[in-house]
Amino acid sequence: MPYYIGIDVGTTGAKTLLINDAGEVLASAAPEYPLHTPRPQWAEQDPADWWAATCEACRAVLTRAGVSKDEVAGVGLSGQMHGSVFLDAEHRVIRPAILWCDQRTGKQCEWITETVGENVVIEETCNPVLTGFTAPKIVWLRDNEPENFGRVRKILLPKDYIRFKLTNDFATEVSDASGTSLLNVRRRAWSARMVEGIGLSLDMLPRVVESPEVTGKITPEAAEECGLAPGTPVVGGGGDQAAGGVGNGIVEPGLVSSTVGTSGVVFAHLDEPLMDQKLRTHTFCHAVPGKWHVMGVVLSAGGSLRWLRDEVCGPEREAAGLLDVDPYEIMTAQAAKAPVGSEGLLFLPYLTGERTPYADPNAKGVFCGLTLRHTREYLIRAVLEGVAFSLRDSFEIIKALGLTIKQVRASGGGARSRLWRQVQADVTHEAHSTISATEGPAYGVALLAAVGTGTFKSVEEACRATIAVVDTCEPRPEASQVYDELYPVYQSLYARLKPLFDQTSELVAAWQAKERGT
Ligand code: XUL
Repeated sequence: MPYYIGIDVGTTGAKTLLINDAGEVLASAAPEYPLHTPRPQWAEQDPADWWAATCEACRAVLTRAGVSKDEVAGVGLSGQMHGSVFLDAEHRVIRPAILWCDQRTGKQCEWITETVGENVVIEETCNPVLTGFTAPKIVWLRDNEPENFGRVRKILLPKDYIRFKLTNDFATEVSDASGTSLLNVRRRAWSARMVEGIGLSLDMLPRVVESPEVTGKITPEAAEECGLAPGTPVVGGGGDQAAGGVGNGIVEPGLVSSTVGTSGVVFAHLDEPLMDQKLRTHTFCHAVPGKWHVMGVVLSAGGSLRWLRDEVCGPEREAAGLLDVDPYEIMTAQAAKAPVGSEGLLFLPYLTGERTPYADPNAKGVFCGLTLRHTREYLIRAVLEGVAFSLRDSFEIIKALGLTIKQVRASGGGARSRLWRQVQADVTHEAHSTISATEGPAYGVALLAAVGTGTFKSVEEACRATIAVVDTCEPRPEASQVYDELYPVYQSLYARLKPLFDQTSELVAAWQAKERGT
């Protein structure tokens, strides 16, 4: 029986799993690695950590599943999107990778948009240039670390660096390449107008393929390190969102997923590249050949709850330690005691700036409406609700594109909590279902490996054969009404606070510049 491995080079670790040709998960592993923030708004990782974790994870899943390396018919790669890995002439990593959640490139985004022209940017890439995307990171390097920039020969996305380590090939695929601001998203090919327009050359970029295509085979040297067999095919795979789309079966019109991991993403399948006129959502190539997707991205969704867990919920963490359960279980049980709407306590989840609906690196997290009655139970509930409101923003934009939503599939760590799924269903007025596959991107790319090596004829066929709905949370009209009353207040908060967000960002930047003596 053939087996497939899916590897998701995520922000916290290399989530890896091994499936059989019926799509059953036989083993998983997720070795973690650190994220470095050398300055506020910066986020970097060492690609060597990704590779070490990938090798550890591949060995672990083979051992746990009791499968021989020779039985693995294909590997699929997924990963955090937008990150930049810079390689020199000897293919060595020049500096730490700059990640999707890094917000240092505001000036570079403006420069690219002005230099190439906003119309060209939109025509070619179907999106605005955003601080998280790849092209402004490259321009930042040229502006701020010219010596490093002078040594750059290749620029790779995180999962494509792992591909290079595994197969010695420079390749990417259309879904991840869509988040670089360098791809013509309609034509599914690099955009010379973008690449050359900002003074880069096309040979700095890897070749770009469709997601199920085999890009190369594992080399004997890589095999030694990662424990897989030399010659094992590796397929294109997908950026974590498109790969998660496949893993959730969002491969036909009417299906939408709402994924709460560190970030929160509302993702809809598209047969044609449709765009929000205000460019609040992203329109990217799907990991399904010849298809696209639209998505709204909330940067700190699960990230907001994690922040609360780590900084505020000490007692819950302690209780969880004593009971040997996940602290989130205790936290959501606490939140269930607070009333719907948290007695007017609102939370804006913009802890790392925001993308949808406000592309604003200066946006900040806010609790608004605190009173003495608001205990930690309310704080936790307000965070769950605030994240759900931010996801509703994306739902509203996607519906306004004229898409009909037939089914919403909840996934990611946030979908494990029934309470949070219920809050999301109540806030958005959409039933939220969970499915048999819970592993998201890693599962999606394991399926792409099965498609690319011939087990399934198409991505759609693979999803139909392996993914089923297991549970559904219906919206509750009374709760939805409370949320409908609060939603306009939530929405108006950002506009009112925006000048204050900008002011505090400027102050902090000035203090830091003073401290550095610049
Ligand atoms: C998508 C995005 C995040 C990262 C990290 O545009 O920025 O989902 O890929 O997961």
